[in-house]
Amino acid sequence: MKIQVELATSELQNQSLLWGESSAEKGEVFTKPEIVDLMLIASGVVDELTSIGTRIIEPSCGQGEFIIAIAKRIKLNYEKANVKLTLVQLVNLIKAYDISSSNIDIAKSNVRAVLSSIYTSQELDLVLKAWFIHADFLLADFDEKFTHIVGNPPYIRIETIPTALLAEYRKRFVTMIERADIYIAFYEKCLDLLSNKGVLSFICTDRWTKNRYGAGLRSKIAKSFQLDLFVDLYGQNAFMSDVMTYPAITQISKNKQKQTCVLHNPNVTVDFCNNVRQCLTNVKVNTLDGAELIVRNDLVKDDKPWLFGSSDELEMLSRLEREFPTLEETGCSVYIGAATGSNKVYIVDKDLDIEASRKIPVITAKELKSGVIESNSNCIINTYDDNGVIELEQYPLLRDYFLQFEETLKGRHIAKMAPLHWFKTIDRVYPERATAQKLLIPDIKSELTVIFDKGSYHPNNSIYYVCADTWNLYALRAVLLSGIGQIFIQAYSTKISGGNLRFQAQHLRKIRLPVWDDIDSRIRTELTRIGRSEDTEEAKILVAQIYSMNEKEKQILGM
Ligand SMILES: C[S@@+](CC[C@H](N)C(=O)[O-])C[C@H]1O[C@@H](n2cnc3c(N)ncnc32)[C@H](O)[C@@H]1O
Repeated sequence: MKIQVELATSELQNQSLLWGESSAEKGEVFTKPEIVDLMLIASGVVDELTSIGTRIIEPSCGQGEFIIAIAKRIKLNYEKANVKLTLVQLVNLIKAYDISSSNIDIAKSNVRAVLSSIYTSQELDLVLKAWFIHADFLLADFDEKFTHIVGNPPYIRIETIPTALLAEYRKRFVTMIERADIYIAFYEKCLDLLSNKGVLSFICTDRWTKNRYGAGLRSKIAKSFQLDLFVDLYGQNAFMSDVMTYPAITQISKNKQKQTCVLHNPNVTVDFCNNVRQCLTNVKVNTLDGAELIVRNDLVKDDKPWLFGSSDELEMLSRLEREFPTLEETGCSVYIGAATGSNKVYIVDKDLDIEASRKIPVITAKELKSGVIESNSNCIINTYDDNGVIELEQYPLLRDYFLQFEETLKGRHIAKMAPLHWFKTIDRVYPERATAQKLLIPDIKSELTVIFDKGSYHPNNSIYYVCADTWNLYALRAVLLSGIGQIFIQAYSTKISGGNLRFQAQHLRKIRLPVWDDIDSRIRTELTRIGRSEDTEEAKILVAQIYSMNEKEKQILGM
């Protein structure tokens, strides 16, 4: 059985190498030296090059851009610091794969030229033979792990890959779902080859960070890895040839901390590269020359699209801002739940013995933690009536209740500002809003949560809520949960509160929305139906229609 499997694999290896020799598209796009340097420095390859245990892999080395840069560092260490790696150390340092023998030959001769002043020709024969492997990386077997994995995996449309090979890749790599490009398999295999303290740094299109076919890989990363660094290079020419893509560097490790350093379109200089390394190894660094340093701790969650606030997301938002009215302009209102100044005193059991008209059923953020309303029998004390703050004397039971807490209540800032009304809550309570249908949005999670309330509760502080005269609230819920709400809020609130998202009223009000009556009635009915469920995938399709999204925008939405 084992022999059969080995035969089948070697047959596939042959096919892959035949393909590698052909003129077919194989994703040959080579990385520019300054970008290679940034990745080698930021991922720690440069710092750890002379450490005994360092093992580097380049899974698709092309003409050797990464390996040449590493060889140059080895040479520099020798010339500047007189540190020479032993032959054994050197031989074990690197493994570089490619299916194209001509690429490998070019890479070998370039690396030889760099190292020939330090090692003899016979030594280099040994080193290059060990380093460069003419084989399909995705089919290769490994019995060791690696401390550093760097490269620029090929992106090849699946139609171009020989059928049997593609079938084998799909069989081996579970994250290669739907129309996943081959680079997804490179990510999966390389992540599995990382040692415990290992670091992976790839430059690649960023498409998978948002779209559907990247979901499996995102989920794998969310489960067992950590996104340390994301650098978008959208406006830049990161490659030797012009390629129409959105390149980005993703650096991934098994670190336990959840922070991601996000850099948009940096000015990549030597100082910048060193600075990035410092940021990643020293939490105290909080500015960077060459790009604004954004630290996020809410980026990677399950298989959700990663929203970085990068230029294509912002482009989409500005189109939506130009073409659609704000949520409030379409007839929806965003309110803030009532703050009391002392929930211990004002949030009470429904059976508390005070005048019934003063008790309004309340929901607090605590009861929304699970994403649904956990029923409760609490009420908020309403210290207002139609004329403003109540006359306490008219409510003797309430007066006696408040007198028990007189000192606490009078100690509040609001009571000091208005001593006559020392018993009032900070915010007004509106009984009619408690009985209105609304969407509750708690400001407690990094992910937008939208809960429908049929009119049972008055929201307490840390809950925002939306009422609407025009929009059906279930349909609105479907729209907000499709991902578009998260994109808006993320863009508007990314930088506040140390990278935590805040679903503040001011950001919610800026969300753009089509006018309800302008939406096709079939879509309205569908949205209303979906808004009763949690089916965000179906919602995305309809949302893409009502916002007339193009292909790029659909990907941002995670389609
Ligand atoms: C995007 S290029 C990157 C080259 C190099 N890493 C760089 O950045 O300059 C991708 C390379 O992957 C190679 N390649 C494609 N499929 C491969 C496979 N299954 N295993 C190994 N290499 C492969 C191609 O021949 C090509 O040279």
